[in-house]
Amino acid sequence: IKNIGLFTSGGDAPGMNAAIRAVVRSAIYYGIEVTGIRRGYEGMIKGDMFPMDRKSVSNIIQRGGTILKTARSEQFRTKEGRQLAYDQLKKNNIDALVAIGGDGTFTGARIFGEEFDIPVVGLPGTIDNDLCGTDFTIGYDTAINTVIDAVDKIRDTAESHDRLFIVEVMGRDSGLIALRTGIAAGAETILIPESKTDINAVFERLEKGRKDKSSKIIMLAENGKDGDAFEVGRQIKEKFPNYDTRVSILGHIQRGGRPSCMDRVLASRVGVAAVEALRNGHRNEMVGLIHNEIAFTSFEHAIKHNIDINPDFLKIVEILSI
Ligand code: F6P
Repeated sequence: IKNIGLFTSGGDAPGMNAAIRAVVRSAIYYGIEVTGIRRGYEGMIKGDMFPMDRKSVSNIIQRGGTILKTARSEQFRTKEGRQLAYDQLKKNNIDALVAIGGDGTFTGARIFGEEFDIPVVGLPGTIDNDLCGTDFTIGYDTAINTVIDAVDKIRDTAESHDRLFIVEVMGRDSGLIALRTGIAAGAETILIPESKTDINAVFERLEKGRKDKSSKIIMLAENGKDGDAFEVGRQIKEKFPNYDTRVSILGHIQRGGRPSCMDRVLASRVGVAAVEALRNGHRNEMVGLIHNEIAFTSFEHAIKHNIDINPDFLKIVEILSI
């Protein structure tokens, strides 16, 4: 391997910059050149690339977002688009790729790595934590800390006004952000796509729950079967007119900010491992961390959406919110 093409793709996540830094610095350490590709597959198709050196990643480990910028590319979904991308890689003498992203990024990487003779290794970068083959994705820890910081603030005002809040968090089709933050913020109940819990269970919980509690927080994962936070709020208001109900959708605040120590260390470890993996002949695999050890998972398996929700977590919420 002489020249690694490096890019971020899909939704940005705090810690992506730490991963970029780790890949660039470890490649240089092993005598490999790095070419930065701007805006993911879009930049690959357009040839928007530049050589990176150790200084180009100075002072970025603590910054949110991604200095390489990111995008979701429609053109790369087509065979013609991927051919253009491959031609650009050849033109720029790139003979391996490191892709930092999530589900969509690895779907593209898997097809590309099978169609063309170029080794691709992926780093899990998404706040959603919805990839198989790693206990945590880069950005998840920071995002959940951002969420509990926000919910703690919501709790202050909820408590003062004796209010019930429905707080909607991100996760695309995954409830992992809602689940963990629900425990950490002391939520009454959690509504996530993976569990059988639906709005009726929430009603039951509110009926049976302690009436003298002054504030109540319901954590809701986006894209659930009971609708968004406004819809859930409407149904609760209808059933419990006595509750002073409010809705708060946290939105993109969850994607920004300084990465946590956990995310910086995770990004640094998998970043170094990705370069070492390419040197050792790995291809079409994601580098993750399982039980604190570096682990390799094929792209095909990494993007399977069969991540089990620990049922203990939901039980814990039930026990602790009495
Ligand atoms: O995958 C990260 C994520 O933030 C999801 O949680 C969310 O559903 C989606 O991206 C939002 O995407 P966009 O920023 O394109 O609206």
